[in-house]
Amino acid sequence: MQTETVMNEKNWVEIGKIDDIPRLGARVVRTEEGDIAVFRTADDEIFAVRDKCPHKGGPLSQGIVHGKKVACPLHNWNIHLDSGEAVAPDEGCAATYPVRVTGTTIYLSTIPDTGCPNQ
Ligand code: FES
Repeated sequence: MQTETVMNEKNWVEIGKIDDIPRLGARVVRTEEGDIAVFRTADDEIFAVRDKCPHKGGPLSQGIVHGKKVACPLHNWNIHLDSGEAVAPDEGCAATYPVRVTGTTIYLSTIPDTGCPNQ
């Protein structure tokens, strides 16, 4: 299998195939700015969120995915995978990252979406 890195203005990086991530699971992509959790929902949607809970930094990649949310494994905050926002009444948000799926290949941009601090 040939691995190719695709770069353009969004720094798209090929990170693998959809089937590399189990349904309702995640895999972690390590970057210089920190780990990014790439999730696959039951409907085969792919979302990328900083692997750091906005509460106390728990590893969201180890949480339980339900619908388009993940439950943090530490104190069970729920985080929307599409916005990175915590579900009320909790407050906070984790940075999200653009994801593109071409065929079955996943491309991730390492430049976070705006709207959420990448901390
Ligand atoms: S660190 Fe995620 S809920 Fe507390």
